[in-house]
Amino acid sequence: MDKCQSCNKIILSDYVFCPRCGNPLKPGLDAPASGSGSICDEDVVKFFDLARNLSSAENIDQLLRKIGVAAESILGAERSAILLLDEKQENLYFKTATGEEILKKITIPITEGIAGWIARNREPLIVNDPYSDSRFSPDTDRKTGYKTKSIAGAPMIAGSELVGVVEVLNKKSGKFEKCDIDNLTGFAGLAAVSILNTRLRDRQENILSNILDYLVMGSEAMGSAEGTSKGHTWEMARMASVMTKEMNLSDEKRQTVHKAAMLHDIGFLGLENPKLLGFDIPHGLQDEAKFRLHPVIGSEMIKRIKPLAGAAPYIANHHRYKNGEGFPENISTDSITQETEIISILEDFLTCRDKNKINFERYSQQVRDAFLKTVSD
Ligand SMILES: [Fe+2]
Ligand SMILES: [Fe+2]
Repeated sequence: MDKCQSCNKIILSDYVFCPRCGNPLKPGLDAPASGSGSICDEDVVKFFDLARNLSSAENIDQLLRKIGVAAESILGAERSAILLLDEKQENLYFKTATGEEILKKITIPITEGIAGWIARNREPLIVNDPYSDSRFSPDTDRKTGYKTKSIAGAPMIAGSELVGVVEVLNKKSGKFEKCDIDNLTGFAGLAAVSILNTRLRDRQENILSNILDYLVMGSEAMGSAEGTSKGHTWEMARMASVMTKEMNLSDEKRQTVHKAAMLHDIGFLGLENPKLLGFDIPHGLQDEAKFRLHPVIGSEMIKRIKPLAGAAPYIANHHRYKNGEGFPENISTDSITQETEIISILEDFLTCRDKNKINFERYSQQVRDAFLKTVSD
């Protein structure tokens, strides 16, 4: 008796992919067995091409549509659909489907139909004569006007969580066979992993965005104590965003500058507990000398948070200028980039609130121009 190495499901039939988690059960998938029902070389290439796209897919809908269409083509079916389970785990809804637009508005209770059966039992299923099968519900056909003549479906399971069902409808020639289920289960595994990736990415982004908010709140509170005005951080972020657009920077650079603007004075927070960060600030240091440490401490704090680390050099240098003025003095002026200058010029402006008091000699022409355009708009 075989077991899936990934989820430990006991495998009773001759599956190529685990019917629960989609893990390949047989080595050498890149050299498929020949004979009826096995997928051909071109199809294997298509399958692995989709698998390769999983980690880089930005657009989940697009990727799921590709998986559905590939399953449809490899199984020789007329239509395909990927249904997801809703948050309450009571209904399935069409995430992507080929065929009628109205499908996107249809939900299927998990207690009904072939898709519901597959979701409840977490098992793949073939029904070659649905209208004579008591598990089939003709409701969707009634709503779309499409006549279902055969169905093959497989559950999409990510980890131990059921996320939905993949279905293909109406085999163009003959009936769906067991080998179709093997192939469909592979596609269901791909779809499940892509959904899991997207959910994990969403959760990480949510955590990061909340951490960022808390850090900014802390930095704002400390900054107010150091004399910066209320809302200083958010105002800088807003103006930095206008400047980077004006300067036509790449999306990636714009995002990093935005993060640097939000966190540029985070070092004020670290000044309260420098030892936790490994800094030994001499006792009795004057306020001005302490203030001058905030860029370096802030940069150290941000360096340790990987998704924010790109902003660290801009934070370290945001009071240092190309003409050698500013602090900390031990930073080479060669390392001062345009992105740093954006933060610096806005820091200068938001501190004095008067563009005529800014020493423009400190900044490159492009940064000066973008700044003046931003404050005049
Ligand atoms: Fe600062
Ligand atoms: Fe500041």
